[in-house]
Amino acid sequence: MIARKSLWIGIAAVAAVPVLFLHAQAPKAAVPAVPRGLTAVLWPRDNPYSAGKAELGRLLYFDKRLSGDDTVACASCHDPKRGYTDQAAVSTGIRGQKGGISAPTVFNRAYGLLQFWDGRAASLEDQAKGPIQNPIEMGNTHEACVTKLRGIAGYRTRFKQVFGTEEFTIDHIAKAIATFERTVLSGDAPYDRYKAGLKTAMNAQQVRGMNVYFNKAKCDKCHEGPNFTLNAFHNLGVGQDKAEPDPGRFAVTKNPAEFGAFKTPTLREIEHTAPYMHDGSLRTLEEVVEFYDKGGIKNKNLDEEMKPLKLTDADKADLVAFMKALSGRGWQHITEPKEFPR
Ligand code: HEC
Ligand code: HEC
Repeated sequence: MIARKSLWIGIAAVAAVPVLFLHAQAPKAAVPAVPRGLTAVLWPRDNPYSAGKAELGRLLYFDKRLSGDDTVACASCHDPKRGYTDQAAVSTGIRGQKGGISAPTVFNRAYGLLQFWDGRAASLEDQAKGPIQNPIEMGNTHEACVTKLRGIAGYRTRFKQVFGTEEFTIDHIAKAIATFERTVLSGDAPYDRYKAGLKTAMNAQQVRGMNVYFNKAKCDKCHEGPNFTLNAFHNLGVGQDKAEPDPGRFAVTKNPAEFGAFKTPTLREIEHTAPYMHDGSLRTLEEVVEFYDKGGIKNKNLDEEMKPLKLTDADKADLVAFMKALSGRGWQHITEPKEFPR
């Protein structure tokens, strides 16, 4: 009898552990599944995922009213129909003003350790505040942006639901936008399916191109891992032959060895984000491959990995074909809002 009773207590104690564990997890909203080939998104402790926040972020991301004169949204320069870029060498902001650097894609920024070509923003939250008050991008001030949005009843309701306050600030706006951005994921490309064992997912040319990529050209020295970047900064010489070269990472670190170094971008969806490089100086993937084959552009900080590759014409074509096997899925369900809060 006693034995039996303690057995039941024992079972109850064991059973209680997962129950308690589940209970502790319960308030945390289920995060969206990531497409094949990508790793789990690390949601920041101070800005966890919720579906309502991601939806609010989507509305803000596409809403031109965040700009000074209601003409420019984040999506104007990072357009889902253009691989989340503007497919231009430099962007056009408020009142037709041109910027000095190419708009990178928003795809898979959840995996970025630093934001911007020179890495000057530490998080997506931090980054999102920049363009709103950049005079040549959205030409607003944080104060005017917040005042305008607080004047829209539909936004007041949504911010109240998501953050528990109608007195929202620029930080709440940035948190919602960053949450949306962390859902803009591209994976499950032919390459991922091939790696998962579906040998027909890539054609023969793409398989040859994969071998050039990893073995002959060793592109993975920098473009490695699920997002095809180690998130490091390198000098390839892009734009370094100009009269006033962009200092790149040097502007942030003041380390002379990093003059002209830029962040290694993802190669996912790369066929949709031309022109290429931080200055948009290369128009096609063929031009990119030629650039690497020549060993980049000579300058005093050229990365030691940058050497002529001696690729054959066939290698070059195969490499381009392989890069086209990196366009995938996981983002097509995200659409531009049909209407915005009133
Ligand atoms: C006028 C065009 C324009 C607008 C509007 C704009 N961006 Fe950008 N965005 C750029 C350019 C150009 C860069 C690169 C700047 C740099 O690296 O110095 C950039 C960089 C970024 C990055 C960093 C990506 C990376 O790989 O490091 C993110 C994320 C981003 N923008 C999101 C946004 C969000 C969110 C908004 C709206 C709040 C926005 N952008 C509005 C042009 C724009
Ligand atoms: C030494 C590190 C390194 C190596 C090796 C390397 N890359 Fe890059 N890659 C970068 C960096 C850094 C950039 C951005 C450079 C800039 O804009 O100044 C870049 C940019 C690119 C871009 C343009 C991306 C965009 O969004 O504009 C493509 C495409 C690309 N690389 C493909 C390749 C291929 C293919 C190989 C192999 C032949 C390769 N890379 C080897 C570091 C590297």
